Parts: sequence; C-alpha cells; structure tokens
Amino acid sequence: MGGIGGIVVFGAGGRAGRAVTAEARRRGVAVTAVVREPARYPDLGAEGVVVAKGDVTDPLSVGGVAGGGHVAAVHAVSPFSGPEQGFGSLDPDFFVRAADALLDGLGAAGVGRLVAIGLFANLLGVDGRPVMDDAGVFPPEIRPFALAHTAGLSRLRSRGDEGAVDWVMLTPGGGLEEGAARTGRYRLGGERVPEGGSVLSYADLAVAVLDEIETPMRHRVRVSVTGDSVIDGP
Ligand SMILES: NC(=O)c1ccc[n+]([C@@H]2O[C@H](COP(=O)([O-])OP(=O)(O)OC[C@H]3O[C@@H](n4cnc5c(N)ncnc54)[C@H](OP(=O)(O)O)[C@@H]3O)[C@@H](O)[C@H]2O)c1
Repeated sequence: MGGIGGIVVFGAGGRAGRAVTAEARRRGVAVTAVVREPARYPDLGAEGVVVAKGDVTDPLSVGGVAGGGHVAAVHAVSPFSGPEQGFGSLDPDFFVRAADALLDGLGAAGVGRLVAIGLFANLLGVDGRPVMDDAGVFPPEIRPFALAHTAGLSRLRSRGDEGAVDWVMLTPGGGLEEGAARTGRYRLGGERVPEGGSVLSYADLAVAVLDEIETPMRHRVRVSVTGDSVIDGP
C-alpha cells in the first residue's frame, strides 16, 4: 500500500507491537517504533522503521515522538507480560494515564487516529457480565490487571467525544497466539464475547489494526476481534 503516512507504535518491542510493525512494513507503511529503552531493542531498527525512546504515560513524550506527520498511533503497551510477573508493581491507573497521555499528546501533535489493543477480560459474556467477573472463565489472580485495563477503556469512553483523536479499541475475543500464522482474516464484533470465532494470531490482530488505520470503519468504540480461520474437525 504505502499510500498513507507513517504510524507511531507504542509498545513496539512487545508481541503485538512487533506484529503491527511487521504488518505495516508489509504494506509499505513507515513506522516509528517507540520503546522505553532503545538499547534493549537492537533488533527493532530496519528499513522503514525508526526506533524512538518514549513513554506512553507521559503526554509530552507522546507528543514528542508522534509529531512529524504520522497519520495514526497504535497503543500496544502493557505493563504486565504474564502472571509470573506478579502485581506488586502494577499501577492501577496505568491505562488511565496512558489514555490521557495519548489523547492529549496525539491531539497536540496533530495525529487524528488511535488504535488501542484491549483485553478479553472486559468483553461481556452471555449473561451480560464482564468476563472477568466470572471466575470460571477468567483467572481471579489476573483481575487487578483486568481492572486496570478496564479503567483505561472507561477513560477513553469518558473523553471519547472530546478532542480530535478518533480512537478505536480492538479487543481479542479470546486467546492471542504468538506463533500462529497470519491468515489475513479476522472478524470484528461488538461488546460481547464473539461466538464461534477461532483463536486470533498476533499477526491477524495486526492486520485488523492496519485495516482500521488504512480504512477506519469503527469510531470511538471498543469492538471485539477474533480469528476467522477454518477449525479442523477431530
Ligand atoms: N486475550 C487478550 O485479550 C490479550 C492477550 C494478550 C495481550 N493483550 C493486550 O494486548 C496489548 C499488548 O500486549 P502484548 O502481549 O504485546 O504485551 P507485551 O509483549 O508484554 O509488550 C508490552 C510492551 O509494552 C512496553 N511498555 C511497558 N510500559 C511502557 C510504557 N510506560 N511506555 C511505553 N512502552 C511500555 C514494554 O516494553 P518496555 O518494557 O521495553 O518498555 C513491552 O514491550 C496489551 O494491552 C495486552 O493487555 C490482550
């Protein structure tokens, strides 16, 4: 493609961030890959990829790296990479601070589109309750992280109609698989856990992210995204 300007990816050294960067490059889109410590990511730099130092919770930092003509930003940041890490250092306001910094920093930099990655935990189950409220489906030990993520979504919603940044949150409707192949297909849904979708690869999540940048279809809402591959029978 390459018809749009560059994008800025926060969390570019993580699983989703790397997949988004790869999908962007596949389409010929330039990427500013934002990490907190560039020296820790010597493998990220490549043709069409500029590595920049930044912090998604700091509006000045966001504005600084996002300026210069980017058409969109991707929020693929997580302060928590797995249950083994524990919650001792988790700031319950992390995602709220990130939402504020992104809306303010991107607005100041003139970046009009934000695609954020959500968390399965706050999609609604068949009974209408958030998945994280059902201990049979969602591990209670991860609940503090789910609450922090959900607070960030609430912040985007509460500020949603204000300002110039048109955001969308793409929330995996189930598991995300790092090694799974790119099929180029996915399904977007709404607020509920989608029925019948297969596990989503990070690569196909990235396809959905780039599609929502290239041709924005959803505006100031959270939607589910799930895999659309054919599941082999037994
Ligand atoms: N099924 C699901 O719903 C599901 C599954 C997996 C992930 N997710 C969501 O998808 C998103 C991305 O997850 P992931 O698996 O790609 O996470 P990941 O692999 O752990 O990567 C997260 C990245 O965030 C960066 N980061 C942390 N704090 C930062 C800050 N203040 N400023 C800038 N960057 C920062 C980290 O880099 P540094 O530490 O080097 O800065 C890290 O590379 C998250 O929102 C996560 O919750 C959802």
